[in-house]
Amino acid sequence: MRNLLILLIFLGMLSCGNSLSEKENQEYIKKGNDISQATFKALSEKLTEQMKLGGPAQAIPFCNVEAIPLTKQLSEDYNVTIKRTSDKLRNQGNKPSARELEIINNYHKLISEKKEITPIVEIDRNNNKHYYAPIKLKANCLACHGKVEEFVSIKTDSIIKSLYPNDKAIGYSEDDLRGIWSITFE
Ligand code: HEC
Repeated sequence: MRNLLILLIFLGMLSCGNSLSEKENQEYIKKGNDISQATFKALSEKLTEQMKLGGPAQAIPFCNVEAIPLTKQLSEDYNVTIKRTSDKLRNQGNKPSARELEIINNYHKLISEKKEITPIVEIDRNNNKHYYAPIKLKANCLACHGKVEEFVSIKTDSIIKSLYPNDKAIGYSEDDLRGIWSITFE
């Protein structure tokens, strides 16, 4: 019994330095959910507008130029760093860190085990909090990320290839894991 107590105290000390209470965890999940939803809304409003104006031929160059600055602007507004990243990149400017890639691979593993995937909050050794959440593809994403000829027209494909010669973000199906939100709170 006494040994067990000592062990528990020791384990408590190990985790104390870098861990969040359940309450803090919930707070950061909520903040992360709110910020990622607001960013998604801002991006998709602009995207829908451009798609209406001129289809993928207009919307792709728009994303090419505007997606990262828009995300940067929202990062400043919320005083955080907002990033969208993926294991199959289109824009090299969205490259994942080693930890982000681990999170993505772990989500893939959970999906293959038919388990639920949910947002995660972590604290790093510099005391920064990180929020990660899955980005899944919806039907209206397929015009630019789906299978060529089925959803992505040959014309759209050639525009994508001309702007992103190393594009990997194509050939997806609806509900596939496209990547993650990664939000850093300082
Ligand atoms: C009009 C074409 C188009 C549509 C529709 C589209 N995307 Fe993209 N997507 C792009 C382009 C171009 C980029 C690269 C520029 C950027 O956003 O950084 C991109 C990048 C991304 C990225 C960042 C990672 C990377 O590979 O660079 C994610 C995540 C993403 N898209 C998810 C989605 C989701 C989810 C949807 C549907 C809600 C969607 N996209 C709809 C064209 C599109």
